[in-house]
Amino acid sequence: MLNWEDPLTPAVPHPPAVPHPPAATHAPAPGSGGPSAEAAAAPAAAPVDARDKRAVNGATDINQLAPFRYPWAWKYFLNANRNHWTPLDINMGQDVHDYFHRLTVEERHVYDNTLAYLTTSDILAMRNIGLAVMEKMTAPELQIYQARQVYEESLHTWTYQHCIETLGLDQGEIYNRYRVVPRIHAKIAIANRRLDSVLRPDIDLHDRAELENFLMAYIFFAAVFEGCWFYNGFSPIFALQRRGLMKGTAEQFQYILRDEVMHCGFGIRVTRQIMEEERVRPDPRALRELWDETEAAESAYADYLLPEPILGYSAELHSEQFRYVANRRARQLGFEEPFPGARNALPWLDEQANLRKEKNFFETRVTEYQTGGALTWD
Ligand SMILES: [Fe+2]
Ligand SMILES: [Fe+2]
Repeated sequence: MLNWEDPLTPAVPHPPAVPHPPAATHAPAPGSGGPSAEAAAAPAAAPVDARDKRAVNGATDINQLAPFRYPWAWKYFLNANRNHWTPLDINMGQDVHDYFHRLTVEERHVYDNTLAYLTTSDILAMRNIGLAVMEKMTAPELQIYQARQVYEESLHTWTYQHCIETLGLDQGEIYNRYRVVPRIHAKIAIANRRLDSVLRPDIDLHDRAELENFLMAYIFFAAVFEGCWFYNGFSPIFALQRRGLMKGTAEQFQYILRDEVMHCGFGIRVTRQIMEEERVRPDPRALRELWDETEAAESAYADYLLPEPILGYSAELHSEQFRYVANRRARQLGFEEPFPGARNALPWLDEQANLRKEKNFFETRVTEYQTGGALTWD
């Protein structure tokens, strides 16, 4: 079992500038000769040196994958492909019965609103990575994992849609909740604000203010949006699953959680790399505001989701778990814990996230969880 408290391996330090080898030392490709012997001896462009690559603001050829500066990013891509699935792989039959005959009104409220939040969130996550983040990366091994992430976010949206269709819920009503329910809307509005601030076409990350804003947006999406809000966002459904309810939906969410854990880990790794290479750190006051704003939004959301506790789950547990996981994300980023003393209110949540194929944790079909070897979670 993975120990979440293991420190991440340190980011690769900024290397000293190394001049490119002289062009004359490189032989031309066969058949690429020009009109003269002198022209044939000169390469069309200098070869890429991995040490010149940068996460952002790099100038190396973005179309050339290797040599790798970030081999861990390539491993993330390979690992992501081991967690391949579609929502059609999971039997939802029992969920239909559970939803209409076993859930209480309060539990249906929890289920519907969890889906209502997640549907819109995953589209936001997809747009953030695909439209705002990828284009700013200057190393292809980072972009390739992010391309896979874009696909996974759309797969997650399909999964929620599959749950909604299978149960015959009113799609228009569910999808519009994020607009009309203030406490769902508030979380989405925070994410939209961060995304809008890094979607402009004129952003130049050589500008320190733009770089700091991009860093904060990336930290928000990786560490909070994916690392806390998603990570914690599935737990109300896992609480039902622990009582033998809505196990198909919960199994779907287990697959998604695996993806999200990797998205968070990768994003934190990239932001650490950016901080190291660009010698940039978030403004401490802005960071404090990030934690406070997202904690307040999450607690208000939890109070809406659970005005009264359901069996085995409550708004108080949900909010405390947010603070506990937020501390972990801060440590992974190399920052101070924002909520000292927060306790692990839902110890079973980490077990869900770390589920390996040999462990049939809640008697669901996790034996086919991967199509390859063991996942690693660095
Ligand atoms: Fe997602
Ligand atoms: Fe994600």
